[in-house]
Amino acid sequence: MTVFLRDAVPADAPHIAALHARSWRASYAPFVPPEVLEAPLEANMRARWDTWPAHRLILLAERAGEVLGFVAAERGDVPIVDNLHVDPEMRGGGIGERLLRSLAARLKQEGVTELLLHVLEGNSGARRFYRRLGGQEGPAADDTLLDAPVRMVPMRWSGAAFDALAADFGEQPGKDA
Ligand SMILES: CC(C)(COP(=O)(O)OP(=O)(O)OC[C@H]1O[C@@H](n2cnc3c(N)ncnc32)[C@H](O)[C@@H]1OP(=O)(O)O)[C@@H](O)C(=O)NCCC(=O)NCCS
Repeated sequence: MTVFLRDAVPADAPHIAALHARSWRASYAPFVPPEVLEAPLEANMRARWDTWPAHRLILLAERAGEVLGFVAAERGDVPIVDNLHVDPEMRGGGIGERLLRSLAARLKQEGVTELLLHVLEGNSGARRFYRRLGGQEGPAADDTLLDAPVRMVPMRWSGAAFDALAADFGEQPGKDA
């Protein structure tokens, strides 16, 4: 069955929160203190998504009504991608790439020419994924995640790299692809 991309709406919040928690449990054990991934994680994620971030651009990947991935960006002079998660069962199938490219294409239509995100230094799979899509890494720096000290690597797309990421690859959210 086909995976569609579309804009997220507030009614999607519980499904996004559930996927967010599932993705953290599957992947974030090396990066966050163990108590973060314990029982209240689902409730914590629901609380986090309860207030809908209307100013953000949020795209979903969906199949037969099931949310399989989402990407969110905070708009600004240089928009910042602050979440990209794909269902752990569905990783490696291109959904993450579709989400990130579609997000960049949408932002480009709004006049954006650069995109930034911060990825955990130890998240080597995600770093490889972003580099493969043309992201340029900057030097790692100290940061915090849920009050825990972490090292984050900035990843930036600008100029030709942003244009390539945002290039039309035959997909618009809401259309079958
Ligand atoms: C990073 C992520 C969004 C990529 O989405 P995806 O749909 O798996 O990506 P694609 O299929 O388009 O591309 C596959 C790439 O993802 C990376 N990847 C990361 N974790 C992976 C996994 N468990 N299985 C397969 N690929 C994975 C690999 O680098 C792979 O590239 P490679 O073929 O060069 O090794 C997804 O793996 C994910 O949700 N990871 C956990 C959350 C996370 O770390 N998000 C990024 C926060 S900054």
